[in-house]
Amino acid sequence: MASSTTQFSLYLLLLTLFSATQSSQSLRDLKPNPNHPSTSLQSITDVHDLLPKYGLPRGLLPDNVRSYTLSDDGTFEIYLESPCYVHFDELVYYNTTIKGKLSFGSVSDVSGIQAKKLFIWVSVTGMHMDEGSDSVEFYVGALSEKLPAKQFEDVPVCKTKACRGGAGAGIESI
Ligand SMILES: *[C@@H]1O[C@H](CO)[C@@H](O)[C@H](O)[C@H]1NC(C)=O
Repeated sequence: MASSTTQFSLYLLLLTLFSATQSSQSLRDLKPNPNHPSTSLQSITDVHDLLPKYGLPRGLLPDNVRSYTLSDDGTFEIYLESPCYVHFDELVYYNTTIKGKLSFGSVSDVSGIQAKKLFIWVSVTGMHMDEGSDSVEFYVGALSEKLPAKQFEDVPVCKTKACRGGAGAGIESI
C-alpha cells in the first residue's frame, strides 16, 4: 500500500517535471531573443550583401573575404584570405585586415585599403555615396575623388599580385 502511494507520487512528480520542461521549451521557441532584437543585419553572412543595406555598392570589397565582424555602432573588421589587388579605374590594394565604420551611405575611419596615385600608394580613409548617385567618392587623406559607381556593381576578382594582366605584362612593385 505504502509503496504504491510512493510510486504514484513519483509518477505525478515526473509528469509535472515533464510538462514543465515542455512548456518552457515551447516558450523559448516562440519568444524572440531579447538580446538580438534585429537579427536581420547580423544574419547576413556575405559581407557584400550587407553593403547595399547601407546604400553602398557590393563591389567595394573583393571576392576573397574570409569573415567579418560588425558591431552595433557600425564598426567593422573584414578579414581576407590574402592581401589583394583589384584594377578599378586605378589600382587598389586591400590588406588582409580591413577596418572601418559603416553608416548609411558611407564608410569612415578606414584602414587597410590603399590606392595607387601616379607612383605612390595612398591610404583610402573613407568612402561616400549619395543615395541614387552614380558615383562613389573616395577620401585619400585631405583629398577626395569621385569614381563612377558602375565599376563597383559586381564583386571584383582578387589578384594576389599587382599584375596588369595579359601576356608579358610587368609586375608593378609596391
Ligand atoms: C598590412 O597590414 C599589416 C598589419 O597591420 C602591416 O604590417 C602591413 O604593413 C600592411 N601592408 C601594407 C602593404 O600596407
